[in-house]
Amino acid sequence: MKLSHAPFEKYSLVLLVGILFVVSIGGLVEIAPLFWLKSTIEKVEGVRPYSPLELKGRDVYIREGCYACHSQMIRTLKDELERYGHYSLAAESMYDHPFQWGSKRTGPDLARVGGKYSDEWHVAHMTAPRSIVPETVMPGYPFLGKRKLDYDDISERLKTLREVGVPYTDEQIENAKLDIVAQTKPDTPEASAVAARYPKAVVRKFDAKQGDVTELDALIAYLQMLGTLVDFAKYDASGPNLR
Ligand code: HEC
Repeated sequence: MKLSHAPFEKYSLVLLVGILFVVSIGGLVEIAPLFWLKSTIEKVEGVRPYSPLELKGRDVYIREGCYACHSQMIRTLKDELERYGHYSLAAESMYDHPFQWGSKRTGPDLARVGGKYSDEWHVAHMTAPRSIVPETVMPGYPFLGKRKLDYDDISERLKTLREVGVPYTDEQIENAKLDIVAQTKPDTPEASAVAARYPKAVVRKFDAKQGDVTELDALIAYLQMLGTLVDFAKYDASGPNLR
């Protein structure tokens, strides 16, 4: 009996068309759901755009390549839930451009590191990691505390992010420069304005030094808010729960 795949073996063009057909099925299965992505990102309360200081800290994080050793995505595996907390939700990184999920974990995942340590811990750890964890391979970043934060372009940065869908308001853009300084000055009226514009923003002089806002201030402001925006006690009650 003649086998039906004979034409595929005989004519290379038929084989090529056959291959393209089979491959396109895989492609469609992967690509088609992206058109309905909006409905796959669950609505989650509490997620907001980064405050200007947090955003600058995130820029330092990217510039220094922290992502080369740290991921920011907790998977739905039991050991990860036990170590890091609730698995990451898509909504938590919806304002990340670019996102920092990653998969390289020379160091621990940082998705929920906010509030885990004090600012003093971070200052010591960032300046000289081995003073805290003698066996760590993490490099020190002692220069961050000495460098004045450059934020002249912060309003433009927020505007650019608005172009790609981050809902910064005109008020947030106008006040961006003031907000950077204000987030390091607790107990001032300006500081409460920052907290009102960016709910749950931590207002502190993160590097505990008087004077200019430093790159270390910005980086610690960013680290201290990671994973703190969503109230998981509430989310668990209404959403899926793998714990
Ligand atoms: C060469 C790899 C490497 C790089 C690059 C690196 N780290 Fe780390 N990091 C580690 C390792 C390993 C640990 C675990 C031991 C320790 O605490 O130092 C760690 C721990 C940490 C912790 C504590 C996490 C926890 O839950 O205990 C923070 C926060 C952190 N790193 C932030 C950063 C930041 C911010 C940068 C970039 C400025 C950075 N790291 C760059 C390897 C790295």
